[in-house]
Amino acid sequence: MIDPAELTPPVAPVAPTRALDDLEIVPMRRRHIRSVLRIEVQSYPKPWTLGLYLSELALGSLRCYLVAHRAGEVVGYGGVMYLGPDAHVTTLAVAPEFHRHGIGGRILLQLARAAIAHGAENLTLEVRVSNDAAIALYRRFGFVPAGVRKNYYAEVKEDALVMWANDIQTDEYAERLARISAAQAGERS
Ligand SMILES: CC(C)(COP(=O)(O)OP(=O)(O)OC[C@H]1O[C@@H](n2cnc3c(N)ncnc32)[C@H](O)[C@@H]1OP(=O)(O)O)[C@@H](O)C(=O)NCCC(=O)NCCS
Repeated sequence: MIDPAELTPPVAPVAPTRALDDLEIVPMRRRHIRSVLRIEVQSYPKPWTLGLYLSELALGSLRCYLVAHRAGEVVGYGGVMYLGPDAHVTTLAVAPEFHRHGIGGRILLQLARAAIAHGAENLTLEVRVSNDAAIALYRRFGFVPAGVRKNYYAEVKEDALVMWANDIQTDEYAERLARISAAQAGERS
């Protein structure tokens, strides 16, 4: 399930712009999925389907899916699945026209907080080895590379970098998230 969703096209360099101050991050509901799918097809070569999103949402507390919206428009989303002590980031995407406005970071911050509240000890994910934008974002959140899954994204013949942010229940990780949160608030003021 995670494998196809991680397939990503090359990300063109995008300069950072001012953060959006009218953004809200809320739990993903069925009514959001149509908008989510519009972003999904622009973000992934093998997009998740309506049925897959519905089945993920049906799993309730075993998952956490969030959307970012402004002025009634969904501009990004992300999710984690809980597997024992680990919270696995299954997807994270922002509408291309809103890249580099801090939205991906704000969604990931809320996902990390949700994982901590759920009791997860670690965060993990796979990302295309050439996805520099996402890797830079994940590093900011303390993810470090732990290995490579060869040809994980067979459709695009690309390897996956496996990344982990361990010990997310610690004070040290709480301080990291507090720094990220403060920086995000600073960008909006
Ligand atoms: C990865 C993705 C979600 C990032 O979302 P975003 O809203 O553009 O990211 P943010 O604006 O919150 O960026 C946060 C940080 O990530 C890094 N980053 C994000 N985009 C970057 C880019 N194009 N180049 C370099 N660094 C980038 C930077 O460190 C950035 O901080 P800064 O702007 O202060 O320098 C977005 O590029 C996307 O939707 N990509 C397509 C789907 C995808 O690849 N998802 C990841 C699957 S594993």
